Amino acid sequence: NHLRHVESMAKLPSGAGKITRLNALILGEALASEEDDLVFPSEIFSRQAHVSSPQKYLEMYRRSVQDPAGFWSDIASEFYWREKWGQQVYFENLDIRKGKIQIEWFKGGMTNICYNCLDRNIESGNGDKIAIYWEGNEPGLDSSLTYNQLLARVCQLANYLKDIGVRKGDAVVIYLPMLMELPIAMLACARIGAVHSVVFAGFSAESLAQRIMDCRPKVVITCNAVMRGSKIIYLKEIVDRALMESAHNGINTDVCLTYENKSAMKKEMTKWIKGRDIWWQDVIPKYPVTCDVEWVDAEDPLFLLYTSGSTGKPKGVLHTTGGYMVYTATTFKYAFDYKPTDIYWCTADCGWITGHSYVTYGPLLNGATVVIFEGAPSYPDAGRCWDIVDKFKVSIFYTAPTLVRSLMREGDEHVSRYSRKSLRVLGSVGEPINPSAWRWFFNVVGDARCPISDTWWQTETGGFMITPLPGAWPQKPGSATFPFFGVQPVIVDEKGVEIEGECSGYLCVKSSWPGAFRTLYGDHERYEATYFSAFPGYYFSGDGCSRDKDGYCWLTGRVDDVINVSGHRIGTAEVESALVSHPQCAEAAVVGVEHEVKGQGIYAFVSLVEGVPYSDDLRKSLVMVVRNQIGAFAAPDKIHWAPGLPKTRSGKIMRRILRKIASRQLDELGDTSTLADPTVVDQLIALADC
Ligand code: PRX
Repeated sequence: NHLRHVESMAKLPSGAGKITRLNALILGEALASEEDDLVFPSEIFSRQAHVSSPQKYLEMYRRSVQDPAGFWSDIASEFYWREKWGQQVYFENLDIRKGKIQIEWFKGGMTNICYNCLDRNIESGNGDKIAIYWEGNEPGLDSSLTYNQLLARVCQLANYLKDIGVRKGDAVVIYLPMLMELPIAMLACARIGAVHSVVFAGFSAESLAQRIMDCRPKVVITCNAVMRGSKIIYLKEIVDRALMESAHNGINTDVCLTYENKSAMKKEMTKWIKGRDIWWQDVIPKYPVTCDVEWVDAEDPLFLLYTSGSTGKPKGVLHTTGGYMVYTATTFKYAFDYKPTDIYWCTADCGWITGHSYVTYGPLLNGATVVIFEGAPSYPDAGRCWDIVDKFKVSIFYTAPTLVRSLMREGDEHVSRYSRKSLRVLGSVGEPINPSAWRWFFNVVGDARCPISDTWWQTETGGFMITPLPGAWPQKPGSATFPFFGVQPVIVDEKGVEIEGECSGYLCVKSSWPGAFRTLYGDHERYEATYFSAFPGYYFSGDGCSRDKDGYCWLTGRVDDVINVSGHRIGTAEVESALVSHPQCAEAAVVGVEHEVKGQGIYAFVSLVEGVPYSDDLRKSLVMVVRNQIGAFAAPDKIHWAPGLPKTRSGKIMRRILRKIASRQLDELGDTSTLADPTVVDQLIALADC
C-alpha cells in the first residue's frame, strides 16, 4: 500500500509541486489546504544528499521491505563484529495469535556498541576529531573532548565499575544533568556489558525510587547539583531521598558515585553518607585509560528506559545491542543527511530516548561531533540557542516543537541578530509540529534554506520510523512524510483492518525493524498486552495518523490516556495517582488540553474529601504533590474543582465529557443522558473559571 503511494509520488517530475506553490503565490490564492503546500529542497542540497530524489528513496525502500535481511545485513557489516551473526539475520513474531511476541536481529553476532562508537572511529583515523563540545549553563563555560580523550574517560569509569563488582547484565542507574559525564557513563556501562537506566534529572525522588526499586542497580551515578538558568537543583539530595525510600523497601544500593559539579556547588556543601557515597573526581582519574571490551550478543540488553503508559506504573522499555546500534546509526545518517564535516546539536536531554539514540549512540557511531548543552535555552536570553549555533558552527540542529514555539513568541530579533549560516538541516521531534511553527522554524531559523526532518518515533521504536529524508522529498509543513527504510506502517480502523488511500485511523507497524524494543523489563505480558493485543498482527503505536492523497503521513497525537507535554510523555493515571495521594483529595481525573507552547497541558479535575473547602492554598498543594511525586514537568496547568465527576452508571469516568469541558467546547458535550448523575456536568461548567 505504502509502496504504491510512494511510487505515484516518485513519478512526479522533480519540482512539479513547486508549480502549485508558485502559482498560488503569484496568483495570491490561498492554497486549497495545508497539505498542498509543498516545500522543495534546493537543487544544491539535493545534489549532495545521501538520498537525492524520491526515486532513489523508492529504490532503497523497496529493497528494505522486500529483502530486509539483505538490506540490514549489508549495513550491519559496516560495523565491527567480534563474531558474525548466525544464518538467520532476524526473527520476528508480531502476531499474538501465533504465540509469544518475539523480535531478534543479528542474534549470535558478538559486538559492543561502545567499541563501535569510539575505538572503531579512532582506528579509522578520527582519534583527534572532537567527539563532544560541552556548553555550560553560563555563557563562556565550555569544554571539549576528542574521540581519544572520550575513550580514555570512558575506560577509566568502566574500570572503576568493574572494580566495584558491576558485571555484564547488571543495572546501573544514571541520574545526571547534561554534563559530559552523562554520555561517558552510558558508554562505560555499554563497554562492560552493564545495562544503563538513565533517569531524567527532572524526575522527583519518588519517581527515581520507583525506577531504582524496579531495576535494582548496584550503583547510582549522579552529581551534587546543577544550575539551570538561574536556578540551582540539588540532585544529590534527590538521590539521597530516593535511596532512603528504596532502602525502606528492602532494595539497597551499594554505591552512589557523585560527580562534583563545581560550577553549581562545592563539595564541602554536599551532604555525604560515608561508606556509600564516593566522589567521582577522587577515584575515577586513578584508573587506567584503557579497558578491555566485553563482547556481547546482539540480543543482550543495552539499556532500560522508563516511560509512561496509560496505567500508573512506568514501563521499563528494554533495548538490546546489535539491532539498536545498526538502526540508530543508519537513521541518524539518512534523516539528517549527516556528513563527516557536520557539527550536530540535539537539544534533548539524555534522560529521554532522543538523548540516547540521537545525542549519544547514533551520532557517535557515525563519528560525529556532538554539542551538548547543560543549561536552559532561554538563559540568559532567548538568543542562547543561536549563540551556541554560531559559536560551534552547528550545521544540524535537532529540537522539539515546544522550544520552537516558545522562541517564536520571543520575536524574530533574537534569531536574526545571529548569523546561523552554518546551519544546513533542522530537525523536530516529540510531538506534531504545527504548520505555523514549522514555517517559522524553516523561514526564520533556517532562512528558508534548511530542510526540516520532522521525525516521528517513540521510546519503544528506538529510532526514527517516519521521517523526511532531506534532499529526497518535497516537504509539507507539519507532515512527517514517509517511512524510514524497512519500516512498514499501516493505518487501521477500530476493528484492526488496514485502510487504504487517503484515510485516518490508528498507526500500527506490521513488521519488525532492528531498533524495536524487545520487551518491558520483567513484564513481557504487559509488553504483549499493551502493544500487540489491540490490533493482532501489528505493533500498535498508541498514535493516530492520517494519510493524504499524496501518501504523506500526518501524525495526529496519542489516542490513549497519555498526554504529551512539551514532548514529554505523561500518563494521566500517573498524575491522578499523585493527586489522590493528597490527604484532602478524594478523586481525580486528568485530561490533556491544547496548550500554545507546550502542545498539550495537564488539566486536572479534582474532587475533595467531604467537608474540605476548595482554596488557592489547597490548589497549590495539589500541584506540589504532583511535582514531588513525578517532577516539575508534570505539574498540572489547571486544577478544576469538581464536586462530582461525570460517571456512567457502572462508575466509569467519561473522559470525553471532561475533555470538552477542559477545552471549553461546551456545545460539543454530546449525549450526557447515560450519566449516573447528569447534573454534575452543569456543576463543572459553573465552576470552570473558579
Ligand atoms: O505521540 C507521539 C509523539 O511522542 C510519542 C513518543 O514519545 P516518547 O516515547 O517520549 O518519545 C519522544 C521522542 C521520540 C509518540 O507516540 N511524537 C514523537 N515524535 C513525533 C510525535 N508526534 C508527532 N510528530 C512527531 N515527529
